[in-house]
This record gives sequence, structure tokens and C-alpha cells, in this order.
Amino acid sequence: MRIRSFLSVVILILASCSVAGGQEKMMTIHYPPDKTVMEFGLLNVALSVPEEFEGKIVISVNGLEEKEILNDRVMKCFSVYIEPGINEISIAAKDARHEVERQTFSVFRRSEFVSKFRKPPASFKREFFHVSKWDQCSGCHTMEPTEADKKPLRITGFSKDTTGEPASTCYSCHKAIQSYAYVHGPVSVWACLSCHESDAAPCYAVKKPEAQTCYTCHVEQQKEWTSKKFIHGPVNSGKCSICHNPHASDHPFFLSKHTWDLCVQCHVESGTGQHVLADVYSTKGHPTRDKPDPVRIGKELTCASCHDPHASDFPKLWAFGVENAFELCKKCHEK
Ligand code: HEC
Ligand code: HEC
Ligand code: HEC
Ligand code: HEC
Ligand code: HEC
Ligand code: HEC
Ligand code: HEC
Ligand code: HEC
Repeated sequence: MRIRSFLSVVILILASCSVAGGQEKMMTIHYPPDKTVMEFGLLNVALSVPEEFEGKIVISVNGLEEKEILNDRVMKCFSVYIEPGINEISIAAKDARHEVERQTFSVFRRSEFVSKFRKPPASFKREFFHVSKWDQCSGCHTMEPTEADKKPLRITGFSKDTTGEPASTCYSCHKAIQSYAYVHGPVSVWACLSCHESDAAPCYAVKKPEAQTCYTCHVEQQKEWTSKKFIHGPVNSGKCSICHNPHASDHPFFLSKHTWDLCVQCHVESGTGQHVLADVYSTKGHPTRDKPDPVRIGKELTCASCHDPHASDFPKLWAFGVENAFELCKKCHEK
């Protein structure tokens, strides 16, 4: 067995030497190209390895081993989690004794919150998978959306479909999109095309401003928020995904971070421990986290306990629709 695999490696190496004598790669990374840009935490990778290769493929992200796969089919397709900033993805082919080949590429994950990650470095650019025709994939995956993908979703009467494998053609490649604690309604039922348009350019682009897309279902919120005198800066920008992951996340409301961490990214001062009370009642400041919320039973006290993250008729975006700080205190303290 060992001899056979040794031989096959020799054959592979011989077979992969081009006529000119230059070494060709054994593995082919079909997607993504080096130096692409992503928005969220998931990356799909497609790679082919000759069937003759008897060994394993080891995938590392930023130096940490992520997964190991056997060479049991020509096309290896998998997904990995990526962090904001530059991620180095390294793919190694190993036989019983040696590393036979290693290929490395980088992806940049954008982040609104870290100034140096807001724009990609000069050599990186956004690539789009779905603008090309992929004959290499269509043998095993359905590449065009079907009627099942196009069924409209209403926010009323919405129910999670938990029976069997979804009919959506997006599922076979994008199933990891649901691998978080909180999954957004339309994503949980694979209504991907309620936000991504199959006839957009580039294919599956989301209309801008994004809020318009969100409001097609969140009609109540649109009515309420847009009628208020003060709309929170980032909400007003129309980019709901500054704070919400449109697909899923490990935080309630699919927030990209815990509420407190999210708010202090932009409002650094409010997280210093001196908020609300300092100089007035004490030097300690009012707690802003790690206490139970006395009004919203079962929830933790956070910035959203006192401020509406979206809109209000009063400055400082008071929660509960109150007019001033004094009224606000009474909501939690006068009992
Ligand atoms: C030989 C058949 C075959 C070909 C060709 C193929 N795939 Fe796959 N792919 C599969 C199978 C089977 C799965 C499901 C694997 C599983 O459930 O673990 C899959 C899963 C995936 C996934 C999801 C992986 C994950 O773990 O989240 C992605 C992404 C993917 N394929 C992309 C592609 C792309 C892009 C191509 C073309 C470049 C392609 N595939 C070609 C068979 C194939
Ligand atoms: C053959 C596998 C495959 C199928 C089927 C598939 N996708 Fe993708 N998709 C990918 C890969 C690979 C990428 C690029 C890497 C990534 O986004 O992680 C991608 C990227 C995307 C993107 C980002 C923009 C782009 O073009 O790179 C969107 C949006 C998207 N897919 C939506 C969909 C929707 C909606 C469906 C179903 C109608 C679908 N995909 C079906 C493999 C697939
Ligand atoms: C509620 C609206 C919404 C739904 C539903 C939705 N998406 Fe998205 N998706 C977005 C937005 C917004 C973006 C960011 C687009 C941009 O940057 O231009 C995005 C981006 C993506 C990307 C690119 C990821 C990256 O890191 O760059 C992929 C892949 C994707 N969506 C796949 C899907 C799939 C598959 C489904 C169905 C399960 C789906 N989406 C459902 C709103 C949605
Ligand atoms: C196709 C309809 C649809 C679109 C478009 C849509 N949503 Fe939703 N959304 C739902 C449904 C249905 C629910 C309720 C199910 C659930 O809680 O997951 C929901 C729930 C939510 C919740 C949690 C509400 C709660 O009280 O728990 C948030 C946050 C949210 N959506 C944000 C967004 C954002 C941001 C966008 C735009 C990027 C968007 N939605 C676009 C259908 C939609
Ligand atoms: C500044 C960050 C931020 C932005 C931008 C933002 N949200 Fe939210 N959103 C939150 C937080 C925080 C919560 C959870 C509040 C709580 O704990 O009650 C939330 C809750 C929600 C909810 C569920 C509760 C409710 O009020 O109905 C929906 C739906 C929602 N957001 C939709 C949207 C949409 C649509 C947009 C874009 C127009 C948007 N959000 C923009 C931070 C934000
Ligand atoms: C992406 C950056 C960003 C994030 C994240 C963010 N904000 Fe803001 N916030 C702003 C901007 C910009 C303004 C408008 C400028 C101003 O009025 O000071 C603002 C204004 C405010 C105001 C009104 C200030 C005043 O003096 O009237 C409050 C209160 C506030 N934000 C609370 C929050 C809370 C609570 C969160 C978390 C749910 C949050 N913000 C998350 C950028 C952000
Ligand atoms: C217990 C209620 C409460 C909590 C919790 C709370 N705030 Fe405030 N916030 C207030 C009050 C009261 C003011 C007005 C202070 C003033 O006028 O001096 C305020 C003012 C603000 C302002 C306006 C600028 C300023 O400092 O006057 C911002 C921005 C803000 N808060 C953000 C946040 C963020 C971010 C968090 C979470 C880290 C948070 N708040 C948590 C009650 C609260
Ligand atoms: C959303 C509910 C809420 C609002 C609104 C609120 N508080 Fe509090 N407050 C709390 C909680 C929770 C604690 C912590 C109680 C504990 O330690 O068990 C607290 C503690 C305090 C304390 C004691 C501080 C300490 O160090 O122990 C004071 C004083 C106080 N609040 C004053 C105020 C004032 C003044 C306002 C209005 C500007 C206000 N609170 C608004 C929930 C609230």
C-alpha cells in the first residue's frame, strides 16, 4: 500500500511536469482567486485533486488547522470561517509520510468597525463567483435557480420549514450559511432570492440602499422608524448590515456583535464606565451591561435598554419613547 502510494506520487509528479520542464501544480484551486474580498464570516472553496492521489488534504486558516479531508472525489468543496482583515488559507496535500504540495491564497474580510479594515488593501478586489458559467460544477450541482427558489416570502404566516433537505438549489453550496445560533427567517427557509436578485448585475446583487430590501418585509418597522424625528446615523445610511448580519449570527437579532460591543465600536466614550451617572450622582457611572434588565425580563441590560438603536422622536434616541432622561430613569427605578 505504501509502495503503491509512493509510486503514484512519483507518477503524479512525473505526469505534472510540463514539456518545458516547469513544475505544474497538482491541485487546482477553482475558487476563490487569490486576494478576493468578502463581507461576512464564511468562505466557499472549490479545489480539484487528481483521483490517483492517495492521501489527505489539510486546510489551515491563519496557521490553524481547520479541517482534513480525504481524496474521495475529484472536486473538493468546503467552507471555512474567516476573520476581519486578511486571512491566509493554506491547503496542503499530504501522503502517508510527506507533504506533497502546498498552496496558499489570501482573502480580505471587510469590517465597518475597524478603520484599517474598512477598505481592502490595494492589491485586493471583490470577485463574483456567479458571473461566470461553471461547467466544472454543474455535473454535481444545479447552477440555475428553480421555481422553488423564487417562491415569495411574507413576514406574516412565516413558518420555519424543517422537513427534510431544502428544495433550494442554493442549499448544496451555501448550507453553512445556517451554521449559527440565530438564523434570519428568510434564510432559514432558503428564500435567498427575496433579497438577492437573479437578474441583477452582477448576478444576485442586493439592491441599494439595502434598507429598501429589508423594508419589503419589515413594513411595520419602516412605517415606525421613518416617521420619527431622529433616525440613528447608521440606520439613516440605509445599510442595515452595519449592525445586522442579513443571514445569521451567534447573537440575538443576528447582530454582528453583542449589542454592547457593537455600540461602543462607534461610541467609545459610552463604554468607559463613566456613562450616565458620572458627575451627577456618583463617580462610578451607571452600569451598561452584565445586569438583568428590570423591564425587558429575561434580557440583559445593554445600550438598547435605554436607547432605541433605530429611531426616536427625541434626541439621544431614548427607549420607551420617553421625552427626557428623567422620564427614562422612572421606567426602571420608581417601583
Ligand atoms: C464530483 C461532484 C462535485 C463537483 C464536480 C462539485 N461538487 Fe461541490 N459538492 C459536492 C458534494 C457531494 C457536496 C456535499 C458535501 C457534503 O455534504 O459534505 C458539495 C458541497 C459543496 C459546497 C458546500 C461545502 C460546505 O461544506 O459548506 C460548496 C461551496 C461547493 N460544493 C462548491 C462547488 C463548486 C464551486 C464546484 C465547481 C467548481 C463544485 N462544488 C463541484 C460534489 C461536487
Ligand atoms: C456550485 C455551488 C453554488 C451554488 C449552487 C450556488 N452558489 Fe452562490 N456561491 C458559490 C461560491 C463558490 C461563491 C463564492 C465564495 C463565497 O461566497 O463564499 C458564491 C457566492 C455567492 C454570492 C456572493 C456574490 C458572488 O457572486 O460571489 C451570492 C450572493 C450567492 N452566492 C448566492 C447564491 C444563491 C442565491 C444561490 C441559489 C440560487 C447560489 N448562490 C447557488 C457557490 C454556489
Ligand atoms: C435579508 C436579505 C438577505 C437574504 C434573505 C439573503 N441574503 Fe445574502 N446577502 C445579503 C446582503 C445585504 C449581502 C451583502 C451584499 C453586498 O455586500 O453588496 C449578502 C451577501 C451574500 C453573500 C456574500 C458573502 C460575503 O461574505 O461577501 C453570499 C454568499 C450570500 N449573500 C448568500 C446568500 C444565500 C445563499 C442566501 C439564502 C440562504 C442569502 N444570501 C439570503 C442579504 C440577504
Ligand atoms: C423576505 C422577507 C424578509 C426580508 C426581505 C427581511 N426580513 Fe428580517 N425577518 C423576516 C422574518 C419572516 C422574520 C421573523 C422570523 C425570525 O424571527 O427569524 C424576520 C426577523 C428579523 C429580525 C429579528 C426580529 C425579532 O423580533 O426577532 C431582524 C433583526 C431582521 N429580520 C432584520 C432584517 C434586516 C436587517 C433585513 C434586510 C437586510 C431584513 N430583515 C429583511 C423576513 C424578512
Ligand atoms: C446601529 C446598529 C443598528 C442598525 C444600523 C440597524 N439595527 Fe436593527 N437592531 C439593532 C439592535 C441593537 C437591535 C436589538 C434591540 C434590542 O435589544 O431590543 C435591533 C433590532 C432590530 C429588529 C427587531 C426589533 C424591532 O425593533 O423590530 C429589527 C426587525 C431590525 N433591527 C431591523 C433593522 C433594519 C431593517 C435596519 C436597517 C433599516 C436596522 N435594523 C439597522 C441595531 C441596529
Ligand atoms: C457605525 C457606527 C455606529 C454604531 C455601530 C452605533 N452608532 Fe450611534 N451614532 C452613530 C452616528 C454617526 C450618530 C450620529 C452623530 C451624532 O448625532 O452624534 C450616532 C448617534 C447616536 C445617539 C444620539 C446621540 C445624541 O447626542 O443625540 C445615540 C444615543 C446612539 N448613537 C446610540 C447608539 C447605540 C445604543 C448603539 C448600539 C445599538 C449605536 N449607537 C451604534 C454611529 C454609530
Ligand atoms: C441606564 C440607561 C443608559 C444606558 C444603559 C446607556 N445609556 Fe447612553 N445615555 C443615557 C443618558 C441618560 C444619556 C444622556 C446623558 C447626558 O445628557 O449627559 C445618554 C447619552 C448617550 C449618548 C449621547 C452622547 C453623550 O454621551 O451624552 C450616546 C451616544 C449614548 N448614550 C450611547 C450609549 C451606548 C453606546 C451605551 C452602551 C454602551 C449606552 N449609551 C448605555 C442612558 C443610558
Ligand atoms: C433600562 C433600565 C434602567 C434605566 C432606564 C435606568 N437604570 Fe439605573 N440601574 C438599572 C440597573 C439594572 C441597575 C443596577 C442594579 C443592580 O446593581 O442590581 C441600575 C443602577 C442604578 C444606580 C446605582 C448605581 C450603582 O453603582 O449601583 C443609580 C444611582 C441609577 N441606576 C440611576 C439611574 C438614573 C439617574 C437613571 C436615568 C438617567 C437610570 N438609572 C436609568 C437600570 C436602569
